[in-house]
Amino acid sequence: MKKRLFSGMQPTGALHLGNWVGALQNWIGLLDQYDCIFCIVDYHAITIPYDVAGMERRIIDAASDYIAAGLDPARATIFVQSDVPQHTELAWVFDSVTPLGQLMRMTQFKAKTAQFADMEEEDEQVAGEEERSEFLEKAGKVNAGLFTYPVLQAADILLYKGEAVPVGEDQVQHVELTRDIARRFNNRYGEVFPECRPLLSPTPRLMGLDAVNKMSKSIGNHIPMQTPPEEIIRRVTREAVSDYRRQRRQDPGVPEECNVHAWHKVFSTPAEVEWSAQGCRSAGIGCFECKKKVAENIAGQLAPYREKRAEIAARPDYVRDVLAEGAKRCREIAAATMEEVRTKLGLTRGR
Ligand code: TYM
Repeated sequence: MKKRLFSGMQPTGALHLGNWVGALQNWIGLLDQYDCIFCIVDYHAITIPYDVAGMERRIIDAASDYIAAGLDPARATIFVQSDVPQHTELAWVFDSVTPLGQLMRMTQFKAKTAQFADMEEEDEQVAGEEERSEFLEKAGKVNAGLFTYPVLQAADILLYKGEAVPVGEDQVQHVELTRDIARRFNNRYGEVFPECRPLLSPTPRLMGLDAVNKMSKSIGNHIPMQTPPEEIIRRVTREAVSDYRRQRRQDPGVPEECNVHAWHKVFSTPAEVEWSAQGCRSAGIGCFECKKKVAENIAGQLAPYREKRAEIAARPDYVRDVLAEGAKRCREIAAATMEEVRTKLGLTRGR
């Protein structure tokens, strides 16, 4: 029997190049090796402010992106988290075996708190009374869901007894926490959950247009997969930050420290990577040329996705059917796991 693989993405907006090379491409490469379940984690997405009216659209968009990028529904189960109520049920059980201290160490929680409280931690320390109350007011926007978010993620994976979890680098800490939660549950109540491990893609961290932060929807330094080719070329040539040393065309640069060169390593042929490195070091090519080449490659590699995406858009019921079927299978697996969990917890009265 194949081992179970579980992964997911938030429907927070159009999927971008980071999601594509950091997760999706990896998922597609693992389709035949594992029993694959892919989730659109809408309950995770409500932990930050969002547009309620557009949620349904974003869920369908995310599912369409999964399929158009190559996740074949005949070889993988695709479903929406909120269609399977046991995710939140198991999360509550896991809350009761998770130390607060461990959740406080989660980097994503710290980053999101800083982002959504609109202030850095240091600011709080030096703040006077007025700044402090301003901080507290802003921190009030950070909800408990953002804090227990990784526990829900552990429930997502373990509800299906997932063993392989392909994610980008930013999610590795959450997968490690999942392993700890499984161990703690098993030790206290008896063996139910397997050990899981993260599977990193060859590009576990793609930097954004700004070259300083990982590509991210919430930072806005991203290129959505749906961007038309001309727009990709326009945005990359205008907005991508290259080596600061190359102020003028004749200034030589250090390709190893340039994000545009890093993108070449992901999207270009070995010969083009060499061309970019040599040209940068010798000032033989300009940054514009270098950016244009990588942008053309990105646009070209997205062509099959774009074509499939247009096909899917013309069949709206198709995606809904895939999700309904996925939810049906997942509810069955989830019900069986929760039955086991409740028995271990001693919550069997009435059955
Ligand atoms: P999310 O929605 O932020 O991202 C989805 C996937 O894309 C990867 N990723 C990147 N990889 C490389 N470079 C980047 N710039 C980049 N940006 C995003 C992420 O690492 C991730 O693999 N908490 C998760 C969703 C989740 C989940 C799960 C994942 C909920 N439950 C269970 C796995 C298993 C998240 O916010 O991913």
